[in-house]
Amino acid sequence: MNARDLLQSVRMAGSADGRRAVRSAWRRQRIDTRDLPRQGPERARVPGEALDAEPMPGGGVVRFSRSRLRVRVAVGGAVFCGWDGAAPEPSYALAGEGAGPPADGRAVLEPDKDGWRVVSERATVLISRQGAVEIRTPGGLLLRRELPPRWWDPTGQPDGSGTRWAQRSEVAADARVFGLGGRPGGPRLPAGSYRLWNTDPGGSFGPGDDPLYITMPVQLVVADAGCHLIFHDSTWDGRVTLRDGEEGAGSGHDRPGGCEVRMDGGPLRYWVIAGTPARVLAGWTALTGRPALPPRWALGHHHSRWGFGSGQEVRRVVAGYREHGLPLSVVHLDIDHFDGHRVFTVDRRNFPDLPDLAAELAAQGVRLVSIVDPAVKAEPGLAAYDGGVAVDAFVRDARGEQVRGVVWPGEAVFPDFTDPGARTWWGGLYAERLAQGFAGVWHDMNEPVSFAPFGDPTLPRSARHALEGRGGDHREAHNVYALGMARAGYEGLRRLRPEQRPFLFSRSGWAGMQRYGGSWSGDVATGWEGLRASLALVLGLGLCGVPYSGPDVGGFTGTPSPELYLRWFQMGAYLPFFRTHSAIFGGRREPWEFGAEVLGHARESLAGRMRLLPYLETLSHVARSTGAPYVRPLWWGSPGDRALRECGDAFLLGDALLVAPVMRPGSVAREIRLPRGRWYDTASGAAYRGRGQVRLDAPLARIPVLAKAGSILPVAGADGEVELEVWAPAEGRTGSGVVFTGDPEGWGAPRMERFVSRWVDGEVVVERDGGGEPGYRVRVRGAA
Ligand code: NOJ
Repeated sequence: MNARDLLQSVRMAGSADGRRAVRSAWRRQRIDTRDLPRQGPERARVPGEALDAEPMPGGGVVRFSRSRLRVRVAVGGAVFCGWDGAAPEPSYALAGEGAGPPADGRAVLEPDKDGWRVVSERATVLISRQGAVEIRTPGGLLLRRELPPRWWDPTGQPDGSGTRWAQRSEVAADARVFGLGGRPGGPRLPAGSYRLWNTDPGGSFGPGDDPLYITMPVQLVVADAGCHLIFHDSTWDGRVTLRDGEEGAGSGHDRPGGCEVRMDGGPLRYWVIAGTPARVLAGWTALTGRPALPPRWALGHHHSRWGFGSGQEVRRVVAGYREHGLPLSVVHLDIDHFDGHRVFTVDRRNFPDLPDLAAELAAQGVRLVSIVDPAVKAEPGLAAYDGGVAVDAFVRDARGEQVRGVVWPGEAVFPDFTDPGARTWWGGLYAERLAQGFAGVWHDMNEPVSFAPFGDPTLPRSARHALEGRGGDHREAHNVYALGMARAGYEGLRRLRPEQRPFLFSRSGWAGMQRYGGSWSGDVATGWEGLRASLALVLGLGLCGVPYSGPDVGGFTGTPSPELYLRWFQMGAYLPFFRTHSAIFGGRREPWEFGAEVLGHARESLAGRMRLLPYLETLSHVARSTGAPYVRPLWWGSPGDRALRECGDAFLLGDALLVAPVMRPGSVAREIRLPRGRWYDTASGAAYRGRGQVRLDAPLARIPVLAKAGSILPVAGADGEVELEVWAPAEGRTGSGVVFTGDPEGWGAPRMERFVSRWVDGEVVVERDGGGEPGYRVRVRGAA
């Protein structure tokens, strides 16, 4: 225990829960010392020399003297490499159950100069006789070179599950890395070391904090040669260390960029998907599942607070929104509405009529969303506790004792979400939430957190988990705990209310979490740095396949200055999940709490959001059908533009819009580097030519938003009807856009319409793709 931990534990010992947390942290250490396998002598191992190879569908197996490598190209082009007999399944990340995606029979393993190769449509894989693996573009450009891996096999441990491994690789000197679940210092991940262990930073976080709630061994690499995604499919604790490359200024002596992945266990297997960013995300979400489609109402504005404290206060806030002319779609109730912080209960004194309140709000078009924490108070007589005990749902230690931790309700137990039976039971508990009138759920504290004044604030690493029947411990289950909880919640809601799409978002998660819902950026510290970090997280997560997320607008802690609040609000209005939220110990986040000027601008910003709803809905369907995130880095359409890879303060919203939030105090103008093409300032209509730098006005009233020439996007007109906003293509060029209109809450198939625009006799004409009237009101801009 270090001095800071000691101080913290003395402080915590001042309250009953604090004392419990201190005890639980000691207990955790004791259990781990007792039950974790001893770190015995280890033997380092490398693959050794290649002996022979056997072709199989989609690739084959190369046998080395001390390991073997399986390469398999799947239909769709994703390349799988598994060492030591590792197969694609079982995997928590992959969608569907079975043997993974089918092999592409056209890809075959064949001898090559220095080893073997597998040629496929999207990538060529070269395997050296020492076990290095190169992934090249079909044209032969190097995307990634994986050096022979190393293992440290524990001698004398029968199951070998604790075999540590390390895999080094090289990428081009110009390559830039994104992802890893989203990191606050991104979106482009600077050189450094990133841990893979889902962690609640406790209290709040800033740009330097790592790791956070969601970590994923998913890297999206952008380089001149092309883009690729690499996913190391092991759920264990690990680290990714990135090193920037250096270009030899034309000398031909570039130093490649480097990456080392080190894991404490789990199979050494990885997937590589190469192609344009859009193809990579399509491939990745084909593998791990397409993103859940949020109900239409989830695209509106959400307001939340930890500590509304009563139904009366909720009514007051909702009335405030109405009276100030501020559209509101959703209100979130945090743990203060539970009875003594017990999940699946209601504080009946302060929220005596929750179903009535929900109905009253629904009549005004406002939905209620409920927080759901995984920890259940260890209290016989409490329905959730007794029910879980009855089906043996709670995590136990190696001796079979319940593992107890401390969370908001006090001493608590934790469902084992890697146990299918526990998931089914847990999913059934959401019936109580639906009966209270909630329309959706917000999963929190699911890293999982158990408060601790020292050490890791989670379960003991030796705690036992079902892991779908295979059995194992928390070292393997930790990172997929929240993923399992999301699955339990999503499947439960589908069973309980089959006609409606679940609305679920989760603080923690892992690769594949998009199948069940979205996320939010957690307890971001209030400050300009937090604003920037929150965008980095949304962008990074989107590149890992999770497109629906957004920050606590205004930051979680303290009270933002009116200017910071407004700038955050203006950015949030262009992010998929747009929610104001704050801590019980933080200030208010209602727009009218920051003075008349901010209120007026926030109202404008909300009106802008409402106008964009048809476009956001279209983007939700695009994400659902292709994996492309709503919010994309500026290089999305031009990955070859190196300068754009460094940009962390602007983003694309779909294909049509470029949003440039203000991230500095006192700024009323800002520089923006435009991707190629022609762009219109949506406020002034002025046209700018990309690639290049422009400076745009950013008065307090708005942040700069540009529209791409030739884009066609659906917006809500003044009467609420959908109309097409058409940005004139450059002279002589054509434009296009799609519109998805779907079932607002159910499962009905969406309708997709495609429109095209072109210049005819000095005017921009819009028609349906294939001909015919557009069928929507059309507003052409930028044609003057
Ligand atoms: C932590 C969450 O990140 C935060 O949003 C929430 O308000 C608190 N837990 C209380 O539930």
